Amino acid sequence: MATLFKNIKELLQVRKEPISYVSGKEMNNLPTIKNAFLVIKDGIITNYGAMDNCPNETFEKVIDATGKIILPSWCDSHTHIVYAGNREGEFIDRIKGLSYQDIANKGGGILNSAKKLQETSENDLYEESKIRLEEVIKLGTGAIEIKSGYGLTVEAELKMLRVIKRLNKNYSIDIKSTFLGAHAIPSQYKDDKQGYIQLLINELMPKIANEQLAHYVDVFCETGYFSVADTKLILEAGKKHGLIPKIHVNQFTAIGGVQVGVEYGALSVDHLEEMRDEDITSLLNTKTMPVALPSCSYFLSIPYTPARKIIDAGLPLALATDYNPGSTPSGNMNFVISTACIKMKMTPEEAINAATINGAYAMGLEKQVGSITIGKQANLILTKPINSYGVIPYSFGNPQIDKIYLKGIEINYCSGE
Ligand code: NIG
Ligand code: FE
Repeated sequence: MATLFKNIKELLQVRKEPISYVSGKEMNNLPTIKNAFLVIKDGIITNYGAMDNCPNETFEKVIDATGKIILPSWCDSHTHIVYAGNREGEFIDRIKGLSYQDIANKGGGILNSAKKLQETSENDLYEESKIRLEEVIKLGTGAIEIKSGYGLTVEAELKMLRVIKRLNKNYSIDIKSTFLGAHAIPSQYKDDKQGYIQLLINELMPKIANEQLAHYVDVFCETGYFSVADTKLILEAGKKHGLIPKIHVNQFTAIGGVQVGVEYGALSVDHLEEMRDEDITSLLNTKTMPVALPSCSYFLSIPYTPARKIIDAGLPLALATDYNPGSTPSGNMNFVISTACIKMKMTPEEAINAATINGAYAMGLEKQVGSITIGKQANLILTKPINSYGVIPYSFGNPQIDKIYLKGIEINYCSGE
């Protein structure tokens, strides 16, 4: 089935030649076509250009996009949307003055979510998680990475990963799965962190590889969680099972996580709120994508990732939500774009590049999504009538979305199963 979008006010992120990602000054270049057409067939982008060259043939469906902008769907390369229950009690504790670390130190935080998840059946976890997945799809996300890490036992980690696999099977959005067993040290291993790491390496990883439950491996490389030496052990073991690293680093302290990521060929290093000059330098001339999570900085009132320093050093940058119950209970990429512009001084062009093609790269999907390129999936956002694409970040908290398409199909929702 072929669909023609005609009279598109502006078609964003058109890339004739496929690219993997954009970096440095190139991030400020967002190629567009004004007064454009776009043809999609069987879920794939097959043609686009200026209205003057609009094909004169019959299409099964014609959509008049007068006044509206079309762009590729957001690519959210870092989320934890499979979880059980919320942590709004901790939110109140933080309002009253406790820090994220204070809460974790008294047994709250990730351990709190792990307890809830361990007590939740796989089916209930699926039902709860699919609501979040549908919610973010409606907000324009067209490809997503989801992590485990709230199980912290063999059974519960497998349960999470199986839920991710089931979501991937039942929804048309592309989902990449990441094993984050090293998210926190469970209380029963409080005095035996190495024992827990050995459990992850010797018991969990072989099972995950056997059931093909994950594409990537993650570690919360942070003071009080997993050290650089712990991270190396886990990444080394992941490598044996074909799990590529995508790691949490430099969120609260800079302890060398960026360097370990680079050393192990990480696809991405994420968070980066605390960046020393040497951390920025060590990312130069590598294939590791730095990923910023501004909604997390907003919610926890911690520093924002120094996007200007990173981009001005010539590096690429991707933006993602970090949607999770503790540090970022929001999966709204539109808010992420706005916050990146407002708080991190990224231009709208940089933010849109960071949230589309660079986000796609940060989860290994740059060949399928992230730009308007012939042969890529027709995962699209059709905006409301807006004056210019600057309105997308400008109207923070107020998504300018009229319709969304995944693999060419308009999504309404519509439950996946
Ligand atoms: O990316 N920092 C580690 N993990 C999550 C938060 C986990 C939680 O608090 O539940 C994050 O911010
Ligand atoms: Fe995270």
